Amino acid sequence: MKHLLKLMDLSGSEITDILNLADQLKYEKKNKIPHRHLEGKTLGMIFQKSSTRTRVSFEVGMYDLGGSALFLSAKELQIGRGEPVIDTARVLSRYLDGIMIRTFAQDDVETLAKYGSIPVINGLTDYCHPCQVLADLMTVRERRGYLEGKTLCYIGDGNNMANSLIVGGIKMGMRVVTCCPQGYLPDAAIMKWASENGKYVCTDNILDGANGADVLYTDVWASMGQEDEAEERRKVFRGYQINDDVMSVAAEDAMVLHCLPAHREEEITAKVFEAHADEIFEEAENRLHAQKAVLVKCMS
Ligand code: CP
Ligand code: NVA
Repeated sequence: MKHLLKLMDLSGSEITDILNLADQLKYEKKNKIPHRHLEGKTLGMIFQKSSTRTRVSFEVGMYDLGGSALFLSAKELQIGRGEPVIDTARVLSRYLDGIMIRTFAQDDVETLAKYGSIPVINGLTDYCHPCQVLADLMTVRERRGYLEGKTLCYIGDGNNMANSLIVGGIKMGMRVVTCCPQGYLPDAAIMKWASENGKYVCTDNILDGANGADVLYTDVWASMGQEDEAEERRKVFRGYQINDDVMSVAAEDAMVLHCLPAHREEEITAKVFEAHADEIFEEAENRLHAQKAVLVKCMS
């Protein structure tokens, strides 16, 4: 695997390989078994948006693997003053062994990979969030044993999370349901692909969608870059909340996941969030292990 630009580029068996390696790296970390697969290598981490989990887990992940990580704020790079991505790609390729980038346009990530000569990992774009979904799949698999045939129901905005959950879930043989209001649906090409390649349902009725679900998932109503729309979105998404009513129609032992950061009483009630905090924070921890697997696959 050269890059991780989006989950659509991976096969189901490549995703399984990543999850297996992630489980192994988690075991090694917990048991203090060294796993310095990237000794002497440096990852550059370009951030054009805020981050807590992605930044810290990639940085710690590189140290765990024997390498180092450089935090590069896009504001302070020349890229923030208009230096083209195609030039940045060729320059950074001469210093670094890999790049993680969090930005707005998916196209910038693809261009970085095309013009650079080192692995590029997508740390979130407006289009997708593949690293998060690898950690999500890892969390479901470790708690439930397997993914195939399980129903994953996403409630909320048809955003980067929804797009990656659809692709990752379908590739792993899950039944995926998205409950999004009209006008805020996931990417049309991804929905079409999902309907043609697996069990995919799109509905605006959350109680129908959540019925019997094994995993309920939600994300913020206004993503990074949509702060100006927050007020309007609060009105549109009212009702698209994981709460007791939704939990009562899901499977009895349903898991609840959230990529975080969470807005209590918006997309999820504080009560449901705290009742499932164990799963949600394990999911956050698994970012570290899943990404280390991606780093090893791409950079070693
Ligand atoms: N879930 C996630 O990507 O978190 P950060 O924005 O904190 O990196
Ligand atoms: N949809 C959210 C995900 C944050 C991890 C955003 O893009 O802000």
